[in-house]
Amino acid sequence: MLPRRAVSVCYVLMLVLYLSAAEDFDWTKNNHDSFYYGTFPTGFSWGAGSSAYQTEGAWDKDGKGLSIWDVFSHKMGKIQQNDTGDSSCDGYYKFKDDTSLMKELKLNHYRFSISWPRIIPTGVKSDHINEKGIQYYDELINHLLENRITPIVTLYHWDLPQVLQEKYGGWQNISMINHFNEFANLCFERFGNRVKYWITFNNPWSVAVEGYETGEHAPGLRLRGTGAYRAAHHIIKAHAKVWHTYDTQWRGKQQGLVGISLSGDWGEPVDISNQKDIEAAERYVQFYLGWFATPVFHGDYPQVMKDFVGRKSAQQGLGTSRLPTFSPQEKSYMKGTCDFLGIGHFTTRYITHKSNPSGRSSTSYFTDRDLAELVDPRWPDPGSEWLYSVPWGFRRMLNFVKTQYGNPMIYVTENGVSEKMSCTELCDEWRIQYYKDYINEMLKAIRDGVSVKGYTAWSLLDKFEWDEGYSERFGLYYVDFRSKNKPRYPKASVQFYKRIISSNGFPNQREVENWKRKAVETCSSSNQLLAAEEQRSTAANILRLIHDPLTSHMEMVTEIVVPTVCTLCILLSAIFLMFLLRRRN
Ligand code: NOJ
Repeated sequence: MLPRRAVSVCYVLMLVLYLSAAEDFDWTKNNHDSFYYGTFPTGFSWGAGSSAYQTEGAWDKDGKGLSIWDVFSHKMGKIQQNDTGDSSCDGYYKFKDDTSLMKELKLNHYRFSISWPRIIPTGVKSDHINEKGIQYYDELINHLLENRITPIVTLYHWDLPQVLQEKYGGWQNISMINHFNEFANLCFERFGNRVKYWITFNNPWSVAVEGYETGEHAPGLRLRGTGAYRAAHHIIKAHAKVWHTYDTQWRGKQQGLVGISLSGDWGEPVDISNQKDIEAAERYVQFYLGWFATPVFHGDYPQVMKDFVGRKSAQQGLGTSRLPTFSPQEKSYMKGTCDFLGIGHFTTRYITHKSNPSGRSSTSYFTDRDLAELVDPRWPDPGSEWLYSVPWGFRRMLNFVKTQYGNPMIYVTENGVSEKMSCTELCDEWRIQYYKDYINEMLKAIRDGVSVKGYTAWSLLDKFEWDEGYSERFGLYYVDFRSKNKPRYPKASVQFYKRIISSNGFPNQREVENWKRKAVETCSSSNQLLAAEEQRSTAANILRLIHDPLTSHMEMVTEIVVPTVCTLCILLSAIFLMFLLRRRN
C-alpha cells in the first residue's frame, strides 16, 4: 500500500497535469457542429494517395517478383468475389494520364508506394535487382516533378516479396529487418536525389493484426495473441534501422525526411464521467496508434500495453509477456527515429471498459485490451462497414498526437470515405460532406497548435480494397473496372476538393456552399457519360450472353446430336433390312 501522503501528492500531480493539458486544448470548446471558416498556413501541402498493389496492376510484368498479396488474392475465398489486383487500375501503364488528373486537381503532392518485389523480385538485394522496375519508378518520379508535384514515397504498403514469406515466415522473422533495410537503401540510392519524403511503413497495425493475427490479410496467418506483437516488434526495429541508414548515409547529401505512417481510429469514452471508460478509451488508442508511435518517439511500448499484456500472459501461466521487450540499447536506438509522423485516419469508436477472461483459449490482441467498441447508429456510413463519418474524432486524434509525442510535424497520409461498388453515382455528395467536415476539423486542430503540414485525400482513384476486392470505392475518380481500358471519371468531390486546394481552405459560407452546388451540377454530365458507357457495356454483355449459349448450342448440335442421329438411323436401317430379309426367307 502507498502511504497516504504519496497518494495525495500523486493526486495533486495528476490534477496539475490535467489542468495543463486542459489549457493546451480545451475540450469543452470543441463544439462538434460548428464550422470554422478560415485558411490553412501558407505552404500547406495538398495531395492524394495510392499504393502499388492497390493500383499498379502488371503483377507479373517486366520481371516483377510475386508479393504475398499476389499469392493471397489468387487463393479462392480470401477476397470478395475472388477479385485480384492483377490489373487493377493499370496504373503501371497509365501513370501519365493519372498525373494529368493530379494536375487537374492542382495537387502539391502525390503519395504512392514502391513495390518491393517489382525492384527486388526475391526480396533479397544480393539475388537480383530488376532494372525495369527501377525504370518504372524513375519515370513516375520524373514525370511528377516535371509537373511540379512532390512525390511522397512509401517503402512498404503491405506487398512483401513472397519468397521472404516462404523462406523465413515474413515479419515473424528477425531477418526481415536487414532485408528491408537493404531494399530501403537501394531506394535512397536510386531515387533519393529526387524524393525528399520517405515513409518506411504504411499502417503497420494492419500488417501485424490482419496479416498475422486474424489472417484476413496476406499472408493470412492466425497466430492469435503472439503473431501481431512479434510482427510489430520486427517492423518497429526495421523502421528504426532504415531511419538510421538514411540519417548516417544519405541525409547529408539528399536533405530529405524519413517518417512512418500510422493509422488510428479515435476512441472516445462512452461515459465521460466514468473513469473506467476514460481509461478504456485511452487504452484503445494506445494499443492502436501508441503501439507504434510510442517506441519511435519515446523508445518503448506504451506502459499500459506492457501492463495489460504482461498481466494477462502471467495469468495464462506464461513465463514471459507475449509482448516482446526492447533492450536498453534498442530503446535509445529507436527513440526519436521519426522526422515527421504520417497519420491515416478515417473513423471513431465509442469505447467502454469490458473485462475479458484471460484463459489461453481466448488469447488475442483484441481481448488483451479489456474493452468494447460501440458506434452511434446516427453516424453516416455510406460505404465500408467499419467507416462511420465522425469528423470531430479527427481533431481529437491530432491533438492527442501533439500532446503525447511532443508536437511532431504531421502529414495526414490518408483520409477519405468509400461507397459501394454497385454505386455508379458520380455526384458523391456524401464524400463532399465527409471531406468538408474532416478537413475543417484538421483546420481547427491547426488552430489548436497541432503541426499539420500536409493532407492526403485517400484515394486518387477507386482501386483494389484488400480483402474487400473492388466492392468499396474510395476514389475521387471513378474507375470503370469492367472496361478493358479502365477509364477514369471525375466524381463531384474532385471539383469540391479542387476548390479547397485553390482557396487553401474555406473562405466563407456563401462561397463554400456555392462550390458544393457547382460540383454537383458539373458532375451530372460525367454521370451521363458513365451511364451511357454502362448501358453500352451492359448491352454488349447481354449480347455476349445471348451469343454464347447460341454458339455452344450449335456446337452441341454438330458434335453430339448429328452423329448420334446418324448412328441411330444406320442401326435402324440395318434392323429394318434384317427384318425384310427374314420375311422373304
Ligand atoms: C488504410 C490502408 O493503408 C489503405 O491501403 C486502405 O485503402 C485504406 N485503409 C482504406 O481501407
